[in-house]
Amino acid sequence: MTFVHQSVLLDRVLELFAPVPAGTIVDATLGGAGHAAALLETRADLRVLGLDQDPHALLAAQARLAEFGDRATAVHARFDQLATVVAAAGAANQPIVGVLFDLGVSSPQFDRPERGFSYRNNAPLDMRMDTTTGRTAADLVNDTNERDLAAILRRYSDERFASRIAKAIVYARPVLTTGELSELVVNAIPAPARRKGGHPAKRTFQAIRIAVNEELDVIPPALDAAIDAVVAGGRVAVISFHSGEDRLVKARFRLAEDGGCSCPPGLPCVCGAVAEARLLKRGGWVPTAAEIEANPRAASARLRAVEKLPTTPGEDLQ
Ligand SMILES: C[S@@+](CC[C@H](N)C(=O)[O-])C[C@H]1O[C@@H](n2cnc3c(N)ncnc32)[C@H](O)[C@@H]1O
Repeated sequence: MTFVHQSVLLDRVLELFAPVPAGTIVDATLGGAGHAAALLETRADLRVLGLDQDPHALLAAQARLAEFGDRATAVHARFDQLATVVAAAGAANQPIVGVLFDLGVSSPQFDRPERGFSYRNNAPLDMRMDTTTGRTAADLVNDTNERDLAAILRRYSDERFASRIAKAIVYARPVLTTGELSELVVNAIPAPARRKGGHPAKRTFQAIRIAVNEELDVIPPALDAAIDAVVAGGRVAVISFHSGEDRLVKARFRLAEDGGCSCPPGLPCVCGAVAEARLLKRGGWVPTAAEIEANPRAASARLRAVEKLPTTPGEDLQ
């Protein structure tokens, strides 16, 4: 089966990694390997160590990257395992000069009905990116109490009607398919609100997907590991699609930039904080109108990036 996914902010990603020294880029969210293949094509002195927790994506990526031989390695792993994967791949022999995260879901995950991510198709309620393990969306909606379900809907998608939807889910249980869930969400939302802001079940599906895949929980440890792994002059870049993700990235990059400095703003730092990295652009980058027109799924994307600073006076760019 073909794997069709348009890489977001591709030219910007290539530009960001153009100045890094020779070595290995970790693509923490390999997907269809669009970014990875473009990096390998444009820089003959780079290797890619790719991770994806979705075994279907991994197969597609391996096929896409076969032409690069041993310059590309693809590993089935969740990206909070980054440090272990890097160590096991022996990538420590090659400097890690970049880490790329292109967060969220690939187009095939949404578009293939059997993955159970979409309110547009009727299929078993699954939503796991890693189909080999963990709780499905059906497990989550059928086993979580009403108060916790409402909290998930509020926390991960700011759903205004979280309580009504949670009550409707609990009343209708067991809820086993995307079609059942979508229909009961539509019916739980007051009629005037159903007509605004896209499909009425969109936010519920997003929140449940984020909870099933623990999408926000894995970001902070993975960013720590990424910043730790790269050599001086190496770069860490993150494309996020959701304000909850972007907040975590922004906060971690700010900490990398100011080293946790507690001195009053505007005054010289006397608290001994040491910066780990420099921010490459305040506010980051968003896609152009032309990119969004060509690929509407890019609309909510924001890319932020940092460059690692030398940690000791002697440590130079490799
Ligand atoms: C937006 S797609 C990446 C597309 C890719 N950059 C490209 O150009 O083809 C995101 C991919 O990251 C994977 N993914 C999301 N969260 C992950 C995590 N915590 N660990 C590993 N893979 C993850 C998904 O399974 C999906 O295949």
